[in-house]
Amino acid sequence: MVARGVLTSVSMAIMAVATAAAPLVSLEKREESNNGLTDRVTWDKHSLLIDGERLFFFSGEFHYYRLPSPSLWFDVMEKFKALEFNGVSFYFNWGYHSPKKGVYDFDGVRDVQKAFDAAAAADLHVITRAGPYINAEVDCGGFPGWLMNQHSMARKSSPENDANSKEWLEAIDKYIVPNQITKGGRVVLNQIDNEYADNVDPYYMEMIKQKFAEDGVDVPSIFNDPNTNGYFAHGTGSVDIYGWDSYPLGFDCSNPTVWPNNRSTTWRDYHEMMNPGEPMALYEFQGGAFDPWGGPGYDACRTMVNEQYAKVFYKNNYAQGATIQNLYMGYGGSSWGGLAKPTVYTSYDYGAPISEPGLMTPKGYEVKLQGTFLHTVKPFWTTEHFSPKVDKDDIILVDGLADVNTDTKFYIAQHWNTASEDKDEFHIDIETSDGKFTIPQKNKLVIDGREAKILTTDYDFHSQHLVYTTSEIFTHQTMGSHDVMVVYAYEDQEGEFALKVSKDDVKVDAKDDSVSHSVEDGILLINYKHTNGTTPIYISGGSDQDLLLLVAGYSSATRWWAPIVKDSKDRVLIQGPYLVRGASISDSTLAFTGDIDETTDIEVVVPENIESFTWNDKELKLKKSEHGTWTGTIEFKDPKIDIPDLTKAEWKYSEASPEINPDFDDSTWTTANHLQTNSVTIPETWPILFADDYGFHTGCIWLRGKFNGSSDITGFNLTAVSGDASAWVAWLNGEYLGGYDVGNQAFEDLNGTLKTDGENVISLLLWTTGHEDDWSADDDYKTARGFQKANLLGTRNQTIWSIDWKIQGNLGGEDLADPVRGPYNEGGLYGERMGWHLPGFDDGDWDKVSVPEDKNRTGVSWYRTNFDLDIPDGYDAPMSIKFDDDTKTRYRALLFINGWQFGRYANDLGPQTQYYLPSGILNTKGSNTLAVAVIPIDKGAQLGKVILEPYKVLESSIPAVELVDSPGIDKRQT
Ligand code: GAL
Repeated sequence: MVARGVLTSVSMAIMAVATAAAPLVSLEKREESNNGLTDRVTWDKHSLLIDGERLFFFSGEFHYYRLPSPSLWFDVMEKFKALEFNGVSFYFNWGYHSPKKGVYDFDGVRDVQKAFDAAAAADLHVITRAGPYINAEVDCGGFPGWLMNQHSMARKSSPENDANSKEWLEAIDKYIVPNQITKGGRVVLNQIDNEYADNVDPYYMEMIKQKFAEDGVDVPSIFNDPNTNGYFAHGTGSVDIYGWDSYPLGFDCSNPTVWPNNRSTTWRDYHEMMNPGEPMALYEFQGGAFDPWGGPGYDACRTMVNEQYAKVFYKNNYAQGATIQNLYMGYGGSSWGGLAKPTVYTSYDYGAPISEPGLMTPKGYEVKLQGTFLHTVKPFWTTEHFSPKVDKDDIILVDGLADVNTDTKFYIAQHWNTASEDKDEFHIDIETSDGKFTIPQKNKLVIDGREAKILTTDYDFHSQHLVYTTSEIFTHQTMGSHDVMVVYAYEDQEGEFALKVSKDDVKVDAKDDSVSHSVEDGILLINYKHTNGTTPIYISGGSDQDLLLLVAGYSSATRWWAPIVKDSKDRVLIQGPYLVRGASISDSTLAFTGDIDETTDIEVVVPENIESFTWNDKELKLKKSEHGTWTGTIEFKDPKIDIPDLTKAEWKYSEASPEINPDFDDSTWTTANHLQTNSVTIPETWPILFADDYGFHTGCIWLRGKFNGSSDITGFNLTAVSGDASAWVAWLNGEYLGGYDVGNQAFEDLNGTLKTDGENVISLLLWTTGHEDDWSADDDYKTARGFQKANLLGTRNQTIWSIDWKIQGNLGGEDLADPVRGPYNEGGLYGERMGWHLPGFDDGDWDKVSVPEDKNRTGVSWYRTNFDLDIPDGYDAPMSIKFDDDTKTRYRALLFINGWQFGRYANDLGPQTQYYLPSGILNTKGSNTLAVAVIPIDKGAQLGKVILEPYKVLESSIPAVELVDSPGIDKRQT
């Protein structure tokens, strides 16, 4: 293999300047499978090894900044573990921590240490991805707003950009470094930048890599090539373990059942060519999809990237050789406040395995089925590919994976045509240490539409030797005097299970009629059908220990859990609950924790020494079945939660756009007087009217322009620049002129509104939706938000200074008025500047109204109400606010819960109408302040119904949720 990453003399010279005499760490790429900095994390061609122990690395992506309630990080991480992820990948968002150059905040909801703690508490390995650039559908792709005013290009090496990038890395490395495995933490891999493959400057990559190392990051470096392009696999800027990303179904969820035939079959060869000494790593593999404004919604994405997709595409990854697979996203969360980039709305549910309110999904259960197999069946971690003989090889693709250490082989079967919905029977010729077989021998093996199967052959487990099975293995475990294996397939599919036995008179005990068996040449062949539920087959006398074979239908299998008992390496088995979070044993009692959504029948398989059980600390009475399993019922008690009806609540109303009034005093506003900009948007008139140039980076922007009227002036012309779904509204001398999408608008025929004598005042309100990202490393994130052109029409048409402008955004600009909620929470609406969204604001003199109101308003309106909740302990009832109205007159609304902006609503665009309110932000045991700001785009727009509603009510062992600090108006820093 070529030695890589050796610093060239040019790059060393460049970095010597950039790092001002800091000693260079030797990052020479080695032939051996470690990075020369640590032996705690090593690798070979097959897999990663942590402390010398091999593992299949199966992680999910999690964005702590999309769930600003640190207690819930522990909840989500626990769910990751329950779904059998053994790792988590964290993006760190520079802009979320840095409102202003030199200012960094890691307190409260920004306390990333708690994210590391949550991962550790759930026993998850961590991949850190701190950019500096992250993409992630966040504002500026994670760059802080202030970087928009940087002259140099981002993601290129230059003194200015190097210094700014290092400022961030230095801040975040203080958290990454001590959380590495080498320092007693859980971080095992560290990513350098993100999908950097356009307009690439390798010296920038090298500089970032060096900075991490100088700061003490010593775990292997990784890079996620957006495709199989070979970026940073070799040469300057290259990383220790190169990998790539893939989103085979793309991001358009509008035809969710139409799949492109887009599965890769070339990765194995590519990997062999590009980085054969490293494990095949998929640092982002499609776990869902984002959805744009006006899109079909996340239910559609969940349908498109569903459990069938997970079966076909993830198993194909394994067939190609991947042993590092990170799903983007494991849990999506919410792009609350102004966190999102313009293409996406507040929900970032992503159709991920765990939904935005933290609920289980069919895909989550599929992930659990696969994850449990991947962590149980160790020969799967060290395989070489071969091509088996298949009778229907024009229709069915079967990849063979042969373990290099044992005789175990795997056969991964799927349709050649990924999208095929046919049911096809097939046979595979297998060679085992017990002989050659064409399987199945007696009944049918099918691929039914969009499914894929991993068949295991020649496999020793506990006291058993499996010759082969055409069912898929979920897991196996020895339970004292007998072994247990759970296998599954879709309901009505047949299965064949061949087990080596030492004598012919082995006893096979099954209650189900579909089960038959025979013994020939020391092999017990059991045939059965997967039915609804799980069929026990008890095999005794065939080997040193009996085997309980549990044959599950697919939906029954999705409710089998195999938690690893706390402080041990053994699993216990439990079927039935909605979610099992953990299991621990003390003396002869087994304690389960988890969630149920209804009264649930359960079956438990445990070692013989277990005699009693608890579920969420309550005694659970179970009966022992004849095969040694235990059965019983967990009762669900309806907590009868009282959910306030907001349509009957008292609301307070205030008009909230005094800026429209020509007499409004804007003397404290910023004068827009810049003549130069670092934006990539080319101004067409001056002064510059780009909000970011004046330090306003989030949410609504007001501009007020004044000019003296004359008979020469016939009107004016404005061009608004902003992202998707932005809108703006214009007033002249207090009169509403109209509401528009971004782009150019000429205002003429102003019917007496335009004064020919005296001062005219234009008031403009721009509803922005965040900044572009920088995926292509071309500074697109610096596209302006504001007005590119603003000039008068008539004979005095001129491009320079025909109007005097004042600009206003969020209170304090980069010096945040509310550092606790941070840089994305509030924009420049009058009510936001006055703190009307905050708890403790005195709305005593506002009008009492009910919502929906029956009034047509043209200015901004604010509505406030309070409500109480009392969700009892032991329950999880993730709550939401729903808007219900028509789309006739366009408006935008901002939803604030206890001062936190948790919803950007566009009634005409949608698709989002329901907004998640995470516990912690929401006080589930006390009073809450809800505020809604309504910005009419069309005349007469008004707020529809506002409904408070839980997504689901679960009896739950969710970790206690601490209330997040939600400062009131008295804490405002002005
Ligand atoms: C990738 C990127 C991620 C995210 C994803 C789509 O290209 O690395 O940050 O943007 O696409 O959700």
